Amino acid sequence: MEEIFICRCEEVTRKELEEAIRDGAVTMNELKRWTRAGMGLCQGKTCAKAVMAMLAEKTGKPLSEIQPATYRNPVRPMPIGCMTKGDQDDDARS
Ligand code: FES
Repeated sequence: MEEIFICRCEEVTRKELEEAIRDGAVTMNELKRWTRAGMGLCQGKTCAKAVMAMLAEKTGKPLSEIQPATYRNPVRPMPIGCMTKGDQDDDARS
């Protein structure tokens, strides 16, 4: 059977999500922690709706009762100079 990637960032397949739900995951946070779906670069912007729909379907709950997972802001490397003020800002950008 062909693998269907639901979360492309973390390469989480439909089968892995179904197994996690079958093993007892009933919330988006549990699915996120068990499979890493939604923890990728896009932070679930691409996959969250599909994962929520799957969770609703497999648990028999209405989609409106499925709470989204908690999010953290993405971390990006920044030059240390961006944390200083005044003339040093200009130096950091060059
Ligand atoms: S596709 Fe799932 S975190 Fe980006």
